[in-house]
Amino acid sequence: MKHDIEQYYETVLGITREAGKIIKEGIARTKNVDTKLGSWDLVTQYDRRVEKVLVAEISKKFPSHKFIAEETNSEQKTTPELTSAPTWVIDPIDGTTNFVHGFHLTCISIALSIEKEVVIGIVYNPILEQMFTAIKGRGAYLNNKRIYTSKVEELCQSMVCLESSFACIPSLRDSIMKRTEACIKVAHGIRVLGSAALALCYVAMGVAEAYHIDGLQCWDVAAGALIVREAGGVVLDSTGGIFDMMSHRILACGTKTLAEELVMLFKKADASLITNNNINHI
Ligand code: IPD
Ligand code: CA
Ligand code: CA
Ligand code: CA
Repeated sequence: MKHDIEQYYETVLGITREAGKIIKEGIARTKNVDTKLGSWDLVTQYDRRVEKVLVAEISKKFPSHKFIAEETNSEQKTTPELTSAPTWVIDPIDGTTNFVHGFHLTCISIALSIEKEVVIGIVYNPILEQMFTAIKGRGAYLNNKRIYTSKVEELCQSMVCLESSFACIPSLRDSIMKRTEACIKVAHGIRVLGSAALALCYVAMGVAEAYHIDGLQCWDVAAGALIVREAGGVVLDSTGGIFDMMSHRILACGTKTLAEELVMLFKKADASLITNNNINHI
């Protein structure tokens, strides 16, 4: 089947901009906050409303398209599965905790996958009026201006974006803390932004050199990963293997050399954890 990617892109760009108004109006208002998997995993009436509008408006235009959307998945407790059909992968508000606190790093992240390949990525922060976009093979843009990743190749000259949310989960905490400690010891600095999609876009525009987290969902990273690649960066599995947005692991860097250094650093951090655990059991 022939797909008009340009038409899909232009149509959903307009729908996303419209839905962004809900976030802009809501960020300073009272939110009804529910907790899902833990204190770090919040959802509000605004998340649900943005998702409903996006799905309804896109379905009107493209009735045969499918959806993988965060809040619908959470409510139905389904494991997201990608098919070859045109599928919109939607995070209605990425950075919900930021949104709840009125913290301006919050966005809509939406990607289109065709034949299991992401071909459109849109990340829109309506508070800061930042519209990050990419169509596969045609570059990455911020507000229609081309963006490129940083060409820094050494961790000691880099700014690294990490996450802390999963450190609330005991089974993940030690690994997150060890890898964070390893980055802190070498990098210019680490930043925890609270929005995976925006952190990936900041790598794409070259103001951060790397982004890493294990534990995310496809809707957190689908759009941002394409935007990084189209900006000239590399996106890998955090073990150094091929990136799969359904695998929950991601490492995005401006350069391949920096990615290789970070993969080695993470392997050493994890190995030290195993050694410590073995020693602790003696
Ligand atoms: C969260 C953000 C955050 C990450 C969390 C995600 P949400 O997405 O991407 O940066 O650390 O793990 O759940 O819940 O705000 O859409
Ligand atoms: Ca969430
Ligand atoms: Ca998210
Ligand atoms: Ca979300």
